[in-house]
Amino acid sequence: MARLNLLEETRFERIPVRVYSDQSKASIEVAQRIASIIKAKQGQGEIAVLGLATGATPVKVYRELVRMHREDGLSFANVVTFNLDEYYPMRPDTDQSYVTFMNKHLFDYVDIRRENIHMPDGTLDEVDIQAFCEAYERKISSLGGLDIQILGIGRTGHIGFNEPGSAPNSGTRLVTLDDLTRRDAARDFGGKENVPTKAITMGVGTIFKAREIVLMAWNEKKAEIVKKAVEGEISADIPATYLQLSDHVEFILDEGAASQLTRFHLPWLAREVVWDNTLVKKAVIWLSTKLGKAILKLTEDDYNNNGMAQLIMEKGPAYNINIDIFNQLQRTITGWPGGKPGVDDSNRPERAEPALKRVLLFSPHPDDDVISMGGTFIRLVDQGHDVHVAYQTSGNTAVWDDDVLRYIEFTRDFSTITGGDTGLTENFYAETTAFFEKKQPNQIDTELIRTIKALIRKGEAIAGARFVGLPDENIHFQDLPFYDRSKFSKTVTYEDDILQTMELLRRVKPHQVFAAGDFADPHGTHRVCFDIVLEALQRLARTDEWIKECWLWLYRGAWHEYPIHEIEMAVPLSPHEVRRKRLSIFKHQSQKDTPVFPGDDPREFWVRAEDRTCETAALYHQLGLADYEAIEAFVRWPYM
Ligand code: F6R
Repeated sequence: MARLNLLEETRFERIPVRVYSDQSKASIEVAQRIASIIKAKQGQGEIAVLGLATGATPVKVYRELVRMHREDGLSFANVVTFNLDEYYPMRPDTDQSYVTFMNKHLFDYVDIRRENIHMPDGTLDEVDIQAFCEAYERKISSLGGLDIQILGIGRTGHIGFNEPGSAPNSGTRLVTLDDLTRRDAARDFGGKENVPTKAITMGVGTIFKAREIVLMAWNEKKAEIVKKAVEGEISADIPATYLQLSDHVEFILDEGAASQLTRFHLPWLAREVVWDNTLVKKAVIWLSTKLGKAILKLTEDDYNNNGMAQLIMEKGPAYNINIDIFNQLQRTITGWPGGKPGVDDSNRPERAEPALKRVLLFSPHPDDDVISMGGTFIRLVDQGHDVHVAYQTSGNTAVWDDDVLRYIEFTRDFSTITGGDTGLTENFYAETTAFFEKKQPNQIDTELIRTIKALIRKGEAIAGARFVGLPDENIHFQDLPFYDRSKFSKTVTYEDDILQTMELLRRVKPHQVFAAGDFADPHGTHRVCFDIVLEALQRLARTDEWIKECWLWLYRGAWHEYPIHEIEMAVPLSPHEVRRKRLSIFKHQSQKDTPVFPGDDPREFWVRAEDRTCETAALYHQLGLADYEAIEAFVRWPYM
């Protein structure tokens, strides 16, 4: 019976998929699979031929293999490896080379023979590449073929570096990297312009010949492409769909990467479900959007013809479901983000009392406050609340070097006018120019340069907050130490960041805290900043009375937006407020045009912010609610 259910549930999936609660557990499982191949071969006195991948995905698999080598005596003496790919051109001793990667994560820590390691050679002359690739293929065949090939998946749907357009029978060859792939690699290389445009990769055909193929993918960033690879038609546009043709492939996913698969994303289409309120809301919004029909116009037939008959049976008629969900959405909308004084608040997102609240807005970088919730920020101030803003990090990473020179030049010229000593600035200017001339991609700035970059952003943040209407004493710069520390070390502790945040919370004693729930931030800073606020609040909840009155609201916007069914407070903005918000974002001049790390969204931040808030408003309207210019969305986070 369970098997039948699973078959039914996975009927949209054209590839076997196994989902794990987190990537560590999944990685251990894959490592065990590799280890058992190695051991089985050892038992027969044979060699094990492994096809290996690089990138963020397999890191924990290698960590587990190293652990097994150290603690369980797993030997790699009989192992031969072939890596999928290497950038071209690429010197093996460069930080970003896949040779460095493999040494750092696996080869340096196990007893593999160096002559058994094979990697595409990024130093070849272009004319020699084809012969090299043919020899690579021959070598794999002569050893009996790959026993297992492990893969990650790129957001283009590439496996290895087989980008869209690759043929299913392609062999090892030189390829051109897709623009998205280069953007994804930009951070490792200190800018997309430093990412090689080409790579040498095993072909789809080469991968196919492996006796087992395991593709791993972690976290929501991969969810969309995983869904296409698993449930979509086979197409050269998404090379991973070719894996549907193999009968010895398995996808190993964590919950995030699996989240867009039909059985998780739209579970009512895949199986009988328990219809709780969240699921009903999600399903009704999905149906209304799919049919392009306002919620109040949905009929029994609409439900029955779109896989929601079970819902009608259990909670129908349609009219009741429609009204219920419509009302719930209607009640999320408020022009009073700090609560509307003197009215019944039982169906409102915020409490009416106290009428004037103390509000603390945590902004991970110096511009997230205005980008993500500028309109609400302005409203809270206009409505008389005691609003404070805390800039959690200095944001110095995202300032261009030439802006630093511009500010030093200003200081030097200003000293000339005031008759001050220009010698010091002259020296510093010369030193800084020399540093920038020699600066390598990704090289960390000197402390002084980092300080100047932080000061540039500080000035902009003050200008933005003042524009919103905040008095200077309500503007706090936390400059949390983890931010600069994480530039030097991957293992960073957050204790002093948490203590500092607790201290600020105690000083302000807010009724409302706003924090960024933008976990898709590609640099991870938003996630860390959120964890720090959460931990600080949770610790305070054990000791401080005032915290019982403190609600935590999360905002998004810089990197993505909340889906409608999750929104608990929707603050509409008028065209005038949208404009004021835009002007407050403009105060962040160093982030205008193209910031240093724009992520993979080429739009300027103010455009992203406007597009996202207008999209939310348009969605509300499509669902049959009022037609607003823009809406900022919030979710309440229960932390106690
Ligand atoms: C790496 C490779 C690529 C990566 C893919 C995912 O050898 O061939 O296909 O597996 O780009 O990269 P990560 O794991 O960094 O997300």
